[in-house]
Amino acid sequence: MTATVPADIADPTLAPEGIRRIEWAAREMPVLRKIRERFQREQPLRGIRMACCLHVTTETANLVLTLKAGGADVRLCASNPLSTQDDVAAALVTEYGIPVFAICGEDATTYYRHIHQALEHRPQLTMDDGADLVATIHKERRELLQWVVGGTEETTTGVIRLRAMAADGALGYPIVAVNESATKHLFDNRYGTGQSTIDGIIRATNVLLAGKVFVVAGYGWCGRGVAMRARGMGAQVVVTEVDPVKALEAVMDGFRVMPMAEAAPIGDIFVTLTGDCNVIDRQHLEAMKDGAILANSGHFDNEINVRALAEMAEGVRRIREHVDEYRLADGRRLYLLGEGRLVNLAAAEGHPAAVMDMSFANQALASEWIAQHHAELGRQVYSLPKELDDEIARLKLEAMGVRIDTLTEEQRRYLASWQEGT
Ligand code: ADE
Repeated sequence: MTATVPADIADPTLAPEGIRRIEWAAREMPVLRKIRERFQREQPLRGIRMACCLHVTTETANLVLTLKAGGADVRLCASNPLSTQDDVAAALVTEYGIPVFAICGEDATTYYRHIHQALEHRPQLTMDDGADLVATIHKERRELLQWVVGGTEETTTGVIRLRAMAADGALGYPIVAVNESATKHLFDNRYGTGQSTIDGIIRATNVLLAGKVFVVAGYGWCGRGVAMRARGMGAQVVVTEVDPVKALEAVMDGFRVMPMAEAAPIGDIFVTLTGDCNVIDRQHLEAMKDGAILANSGHFDNEINVRALAEMAEGVRRIREHVDEYRLADGRRLYLLGEGRLVNLAAAEGHPAAVMDMSFANQALASEWIAQHHAELGRQVYSLPKELDDEIARLKLEAMGVRIDTLTEEQRRYLASWQEGT
């Protein structure tokens, strides 16, 4: 099908490759497939205008097609300038008739123009990964607030921004924080980020991890996934944290824990996953060894102080795709991957489809839930009801062929009573 939908993409002729890769990802997304089949029958999003700001990947394509199957009128733009898979964007536009505004490598002006283009059809629901649609609507396009009834948010960093807005009384409509579902953060953040971050570092550099000192900044669900996988590859993993409980968990999980100032001179590879800014700052860069590799897997590109790195450098050259060599005045060279943007999406393909299956099942069900319930909700951040979260886990287990026990009537009564003791 050649559709004439509004779009701004790199190259429509890439569509055949995109179609094949979208189908490949679909094989690993059985939960989303089930939801899509039901959406097709029940049309829960019929006629609802949606703007989605997500990484434009094969997995996102399967989500967008699910929303469309449910009757939604969807527009898609990128949630990061480097994460767009141009063949997927081409397939979505030319084969599936979805308006997409996303080009891999777009500059900041184009990135924000694309966000505005996704908002042009006056969305009633927004779907964010990092809260850029919400931020743009609230800061620059307030006239759109009259149409929007609700939204969803994918990621930890976005939820932090949205909670700050809600606390200030500034949030204009209810949002479901998909990240808070157990079937999202326990799997996507841990196993997805864990695998795809290592994948990004290896694809970019082809370095051996075994024997390297691998510094992980942040021991949230993403950080612990990366730490676990790096250890599995034989690296000596060091964790840095600001939260005493998480630091203690890292110690008892068997990692060395120390401040970044102490990790800086000993690390071979650094990865930031904190959601905060300047976690690797000028003084850390000044202390690093010649040849240290720097990567970020947090949502925004401000976790490594790239501006300070550029100011400190006498020269910069792209030594390999996704690897920039910064030559410092004293002769040391530091290597920045993916320009300090999400290394798993910039240098690899993001999380594998099998975990995005659950994340995007949450997104699809959250869209349906907020479309049904927005009138009863306040201008707050909500979690998806636990029954829906549990249902996603049940469907995933079923698809994996794993069966579990159920409570007997006696056990159910025992758990519900307070009179029975020893
Ligand atoms: N975030 C992390 N990995 C992703 C993927 N494969 N698709 C969409 N968003 C992602």
